[in-house]
Amino acid sequence: MLVIANAEAWPGFPTTVERLKSGSDSLTAMIAGISRVEAEPKVRSVGYGGWPNMLGVMECDAAVMNGDTREVGAVGAVPDTMHVAALAHAVMQRLPHVMLTGAGARRFATEVGLPVDNMLLDDSRRVWWDRLQTELSPAELEAFPDVPLAPLSRAITDPERVRDTTVFVSADRMRGIHAATSTSGWAWKYPGRLGDSPIPGAGYYADSRYGAAACTHTGEMTMRCSTAHTVVLALKLGRSLEDAVALAVEELADLSEGFLGGVVIHAVDAHGGHEVVNFRCPGEIRYWLWSDEMAEPELRPAKAA
Ligand code: GLY
Repeated sequence: MLVIANAEAWPGFPTTVERLKSGSDSLTAMIAGISRVEAEPKVRSVGYGGWPNMLGVMECDAAVMNGDTREVGAVGAVPDTMHVAALAHAVMQRLPHVMLTGAGARRFATEVGLPVDNMLLDDSRRVWWDRLQTELSPAELEAFPDVPLAPLSRAITDPERVRDTTVFVSADRMRGIHAATSTSGWAWKYPGRLGDSPIPGAGYYADSRYGAAACTHTGEMTMRCSTAHTVVLALKLGRSLEDAVALAVEELADLSEGFLGGVVIHAVDAHGGHEVVNFRCPGEIRYWLWSDEMAEPELRPAKAA
């Protein structure tokens, strides 16, 4: 058994490891870990601690993928809901659909027993409004929210360069290879914006025959390049894991127009290998790793692309 997750997974990674050690199925173990990340206010890119959209409303995205069956459950732009990874899992288990968004996703959350959560921290509200005040004229502030938002979405960037998420990927000879994601998305995003975290093939993909990949940071790029699926398809075509990730990086590097930023690819193969590669994200990027041979999870540096 091997499981990797990005650094933001710290509040929940030990939970996932404990669940896996005690024999839980991998998706359930990863969702239990992600639930802790979603509830942790210090994680400023996922769940309760995340940043709101341009209107000051929290909208979260999440997904799960079962690599044995290639079933997917995903939710996007979900209001008032902390545990969106669990909600995505319920979509996979209970509906004939792959993805729900917005009000429909919230309605389904109520049907499956998830509470209506207050998702906006006082600090997030303050930072959101302070930034708008520096961008809008007094007349626009008076009229807000009835002002054009598109110019703002180009002018305002993330307060902590957080275009991030949490991703978990697990691989086990018996239990298969699976992926799960959760995020509050890009701060001050245009209302209704979906990132890559709910999009199969972009922010995550898993196929127990070959491997899995999941991405953090600029979803606007991985959605254009089908980054996670590129990794798994390259594995299927016989590339090594290192080469498969290199191919996905090459595709990202070929983008020259549109919104460009960094991406981190977290990938595993069906032979027990893993690669975490940083393509143009500033600063040191780290990830969590645990495998059967390790007593404790370790935080390791990602490779530079
Ligand atoms: N990778 C997370 C997002 O773009 O929302």
